[in-house]
Amino acid sequence: MIKKTDFLVIGTGIAGLSYALKAAEFGKVTIITKKQIKKTNTALAQGGVAAVFGPMDSFDLHIKDTLASGDGLCNKEVVAMVVKDGPERIRELVRLGAAFNKAGDGEEDFSLGQEGGHSAKRIVYAHDLTGKEIEDTLVRNVEAHRNITVLEDYIAVNLITFSSSIRSGLLVTQHENICCGAYVLNNQTGTIETFYSGITLLATGGASKVYLYTSNPDIATGDGIAMAYRAGASVANLEFVQFHPTCLFHPEAKNFLISEAVRGEGAVLVDSKGRRFMDKYSPDKELACRDVVARAIDSELKKTGADSVFLDITHKDPGFVKNRFPNIYSKCLEYGIDMTKEPIPVVPAAHYMCGGVATDLNGKTDIHRLYAVGETACTGLHGANRLASNSLLEALVYSHRAYHASVEEFKTISHKITVSLDLWDATSTTDSDEAIVVSHNWDEIRRLMWNYVGIVRSDKRLQRALRRIVNINEEINEYYWDFKVTSDLIELRNLATVAELIIRSALMRKESRGLHYNIGYPEKDDMNYLKHTILKKNL
Ligand code: SIN
Repeated sequence: MIKKTDFLVIGTGIAGLSYALKAAEFGKVTIITKKQIKKTNTALAQGGVAAVFGPMDSFDLHIKDTLASGDGLCNKEVVAMVVKDGPERIRELVRLGAAFNKAGDGEEDFSLGQEGGHSAKRIVYAHDLTGKEIEDTLVRNVEAHRNITVLEDYIAVNLITFSSSIRSGLLVTQHENICCGAYVLNNQTGTIETFYSGITLLATGGASKVYLYTSNPDIATGDGIAMAYRAGASVANLEFVQFHPTCLFHPEAKNFLISEAVRGEGAVLVDSKGRRFMDKYSPDKELACRDVVARAIDSELKKTGADSVFLDITHKDPGFVKNRFPNIYSKCLEYGIDMTKEPIPVVPAAHYMCGGVATDLNGKTDIHRLYAVGETACTGLHGANRLASNSLLEALVYSHRAYHASVEEFKTISHKITVSLDLWDATSTTDSDEAIVVSHNWDEIRRLMWNYVGIVRSDKRLQRALRRIVNINEEINEYYWDFKVTSDLIELRNLATVAELIIRSALMRKESRGLHYNIGYPEKDDMNYLKHTILKKNL
């Protein structure tokens, strides 16, 4: 059976939900999510949303900081547009009910945080649970909307595309790739359902789970990026993986972030003897851009052989620390660390994909009727290194723009043309009795990426990684078509696809810029590499 909807939204983070709320004013929206609606990376975001509200701030300063962080690869038009749209998108969230910390009684008297690379205080936050506040607000509104259906435990397998020829006289001048929905695994029934949609929006978040150590939850397997690539969309700049400098280092802690906002409030980085080291690496010390801080920590760890460095905020008033960072304080306490009394052990971990599905200024991909927003997309805002707290901002601005553009595109769809959709054929597949293939490959990919494609890279290690991932991908593909599709297998295939794309992109950039550092080419090479790395599958 084919399920029809006007707008199919894949993903329930800030990007997908904000888009859905707007599109629902125009037509029927179906949102699918592979787990539960609030199981998103957004819900874990601690820092906040960068936007110009401060008396000492200006659009020009925010633009300048974003461009400096992006290290030559930001699209200037995109940066100006996102920065200038920011405050209005925050006001919208407030109107929907989001409560951000205030410094006064005025409607826009937000208490503003500071993070690395920002020359002014401009982070709008809700304690250290900003993402949760935004996610809860959006979910409340989405669940109350009669035009929106949310399907939990539904994981997209592949996009459905067809090719349409444009004729001019007798000549076929162009073949256009058009997306009209997705095949989706209903995890409850184990069957694949076919969704036909006017517009499809990818808002599936990032892919940092491709690395062994990450701040991201298990869901961050790059599903949207992999599906879009398989369907023929261009993906861009995947070599730029942002490693967050300060994730909690503790044997029992899985991916817990210690927000950059802690450094913004004065925390310092020290080694095991309590000595500060950031002054050796940057005049901005702990508040240098993330790539600089992460590489500095990596270098200290390699030099000393230590397991971690430490983040020290013990000089601040304990009451202030507990009130400003209630979540981080209580989480650390669960692991026996009282951050008001002792430094927190931290290490860098994969955090954010600056690359993704290439889009235009409206979040449109190069496949018709397919849009990508949030971490899934590469819009040109982040360039070679994302400025802290610019990601929630980008998601808000682009879901708004994608809404406008996609509604216009929706109006042009000729519903007279019926597309014959194939139903998913699962007749020749059987249940797998080799779950070990999935878990082994999953493990191997993440270890391989951490060891060979991490913070500091070399061509030799990248080549080695490429040889391995090509084999792994072959193995997964053989396995994929023989056995019944499961969500673990879908995620593994996506993870492996994205891993290969990251490696291939990293090999194409023979220079060091922003987050991509190759010891064989330690300098920036503007003559040859002041450009985006684009990969597109030959269909
Ligand atoms: C953080 O709180 O440090 C993360 C913020 C971000 O990644 O922008």
